[in-house]
Amino acid sequence: MSNFLDKLTIRLMREDDLDAIVDIDTKVLGEARRDYWLTKIIKQAESRPPDASLVSEVDGKAIGFILGEVSGWEFKVPNNIGWIDTIGIDPDYQNRGIAKELANALVTNLREHGVDTIYTLVNWNDWDLLQFFHAMGFTRGDMINLVLKV
Ligand SMILES: CC(C)(COP(=O)(O)OP(=O)(O)OC[C@H]1O[C@@H](n2cnc3c(N)ncnc32)[C@H](O)[C@@H]1OP(=O)(O)O)[C@@H](O)C(=O)NCCC(=O)NCCS
Repeated sequence: MSNFLDKLTIRLMREDDLDAIVDIDTKVLGEARRDYWLTKIIKQAESRPPDASLVSEVDGKAIGFILGEVSGWEFKVPNNIGWIDTIGIDPDYQNRGIAKELANALVTNLREHGVDTIYTLVNWNDWDLLQFFHAMGFTRGDMINLVLKV
């Protein structure tokens, strides 16, 4: 496993990662959402620091990605709050420590932006993500989600 992680590189996300990200998402969720990722990765790129969108690569192939944010960054407002928006690892490459490497790299970058607290939202039924964030040291925050069906 350590050999595998030695081959792993983490770099800034580029616009031409769109296809690989759509492929990973399709493998994870079973549906292709190209327009969704086009908006998120390319059209909304200016709302995030460039080093908060990262890709992990093995032998030139993008196999995982993470999208983070710094609250207030786009308005140049200092803010100590960061977010992990989305993380996805190609199912063929899961359970090898790749998500952890990506998340740690993002945390390092967010800290350099002055972030000292990171939030993320996870669906209560998403056991994989809950377990992953638990393993990363995340605990339950003190905000709760309220919903009204109308
Ligand atoms: C959750 C996810 C990111 C984990 O990726 P991964 O590369 O397999 O995770 P890692 O191998 O880096 O695991 C890191 C830690 O989390 C734990 N972990 C990860 N997934 C876990 C699971 N399903 N159950 C229990 N523990 C888990 C690992 O045991 C490890 O713990 P350790 O540090 O104590 O050894 C990955 O399964 C994924 O992408 N899921 C889909 C997420 C999604 O829906 N994204 C939106 C669409 S793309």
